[in-house]
Amino acid sequence: MTPEQVLKKAYASHEKVTISFSGAEDVILIDMACNFCEQLFVFSLDTGRLHPETYRFIEDIRNHYGIEIDVLSPDNKLLNGFVKDKGLFSFYQDGHSECCSVRKIEPLEKHLVHYDAWITGQRKDQSPTRSDLPQEQIDSAFSNEYRKLKKYNPLANWTSDQVWEYIKNNNVPYNPLHDGGYKSIGCQPCTRPTKPEEHERAGRWWWEEETKRECGLHIINIEE
Ligand code: ADX
Ligand code: SF4
Repeated sequence: MTPEQVLKKAYASHEKVTISFSGAEDVILIDMACNFCEQLFVFSLDTGRLHPETYRFIEDIRNHYGIEIDVLSPDNKLLNGFVKDKGLFSFYQDGHSECCSVRKIEPLEKHLVHYDAWITGQRKDQSPTRSDLPQEQIDSAFSNEYRKLKKYNPLANWTSDQVWEYIKNNNVPYNPLHDGGYKSIGCQPCTRPTKPEEHERAGRWWWEEETKRECGLHIINIEE
């Protein structure tokens, strides 16, 4: 199916659908969904550690499309406890999972409870952990015996070149960090620019093993 067909299917099949937004791919999905959906529910996880350019980018997208964006913060008590205990850079010593869990997963879990389905901008060729990514799946990480959450990845089969062709052809705004050598952008301390010959996610959690580089948002990619 084309990305548009997957998006339309998601909106036709579920009452409450939310689009996750952080990067270039997600804006393509917002751009496409705006053509047939009057009210989008878009959210972005504000870890508190994003680049200044990324905060500006979130605001640019809000204004460009005239949409509301739920910018979700971590739980104060959990975050205070974690930082008091482990400091601000513990991920360089013992891995990103604990920090991502407080700053991303807990707020994501609380948000997804209100929806039947969520949409992501993941692509198969982003990483070995995504090579089998389907366009739609049950998100077992955020489902339980009473409720099955659907997850749609409309751009699963697109390449990076297709992404940038769409962005250029449709004047879609993008994060200016991409012009400075950043291919994949996450939190500032966990993202570095990459050389042209490096893979696009080589700059994410570069001190960790490639097969473990999923922050928990997409944990089903390595657990299933
Ligand atoms: S990550 O899990 O390793 O950070 P990546 O940056 O490749 O993911 O993004 C893949 C998809 O995850 C994005 O297209 C988006 O759907 C979702 N995503 C990643 N980070 C965020 C965030 N901070 N807020 C909302 N969605 C996000
Ligand atoms: Fe923390 Fe880095 Fe995960 Fe951001 S990407 S939540 S700074 S470990």
